[in-house]
Amino acid sequence: MNVKDSLLNTLAASGSEYISGAALAEKLGVSRNAVWKAVKSLEAEGYAIESVTSKGYRLADSNNRLSEKLITSHLTTKALGRELKVLDEVNSTNIAAKELASAGAPHGMAVAADMQTMGRGRLGRTFVSPAGTGLYLSVILRPEIELEATAMMTTAASVAVAEAVEKLTGSAAQIKWVNDVYLNGKKICGILTEASLGLEMKSLDYAVIGIGVNVRSVRGKFDSELIKTASSIEDETGLIIDRNALCAAILDRLEFYTDSLRERSFLEGYRRRELLTGNDITAMVGNQPITGKALGIDDNGNLIVELPDGSVKHLGSGEANLCRVKK
Ligand code: BTN
Repeated sequence: MNVKDSLLNTLAASGSEYISGAALAEKLGVSRNAVWKAVKSLEAEGYAIESVTSKGYRLADSNNRLSEKLITSHLTTKALGRELKVLDEVNSTNIAAKELASAGAPHGMAVAADMQTMGRGRLGRTFVSPAGTGLYLSVILRPEIELEATAMMTTAASVAVAEAVEKLTGSAAQIKWVNDVYLNGKKICGILTEASLGLEMKSLDYAVIGIGVNVRSVRGKFDSELIKTASSIEDETGLIIDRNALCAAILDRLEFYTDSLRERSFLEGYRRRELLTGNDITAMVGNQPITGKALGIDDNGNLIVELPDGSVKHLGSGEANLCRVKK
């Protein structure tokens, strides 16, 4: 490993502690001048490093560089994110992950990007993904599950994101069926799962779970229409959180829930945070609008709706879109 990479690892490992130039030089087995040069080249790559006379160096709290090394320094998983590609720019991390998966990439490999030029949302929508703002992450999963259970992965992923956001911000997150994560009633995260079937079409070859979280302020970056419904962690909590730490926290919770998908231990956390439950809602089922009262979430992650005639319908994620609280 070169001096620059070793320095970054050491700074990442020491968190908010300063390390003196002399201590770094000794640890890395180089001169203090070589440490200083490595600091300058990390800064040129976009890492924010604080240097204080008589204390030394540390990564600045404001550091906004998304990087493989920094994500890895926070990672606690067995498989998820252990193979990781971090890109400055990509069309869509889901497209990149699907290409890698088709070429044989292993279970758990993840692709993250600082920005996407063609970020994809559900129903063919665009997911606006400006640089330095969000975490755009796609994870390849190859679980041995029945095809029908695939939809549960998105359900699990939304709980994983909610828990990671809560851990890093201390604020309560909500989930809106089917897969959006909210803070203060505004969407801060969308999830798009894309699956590829095995040859006989009955089994899952792989799934790519694509997660987009708006982390830094989106003011001035989202247009006036989008800003009515979407927001970011910074705009809702006032906190600037590290995208690297968030990425690792999401991977950690995602591994926990997707490793035990059959147990569905995420359902309790999903139901507790779900926003439509108890409200009168409208949903589009195909081209058909339906209205009713959302009663809750069933064991398969479907929305239970009581229709005006008293009958009860369980809406699957593939069936309904544009589900909202009736005004
Ligand atoms: C939605 O809100 O409709 C789903 C948005 C999913 C966005 C994420 S960002 C990472 C991954 N790459 C994409 O192109 N889309 C997903």
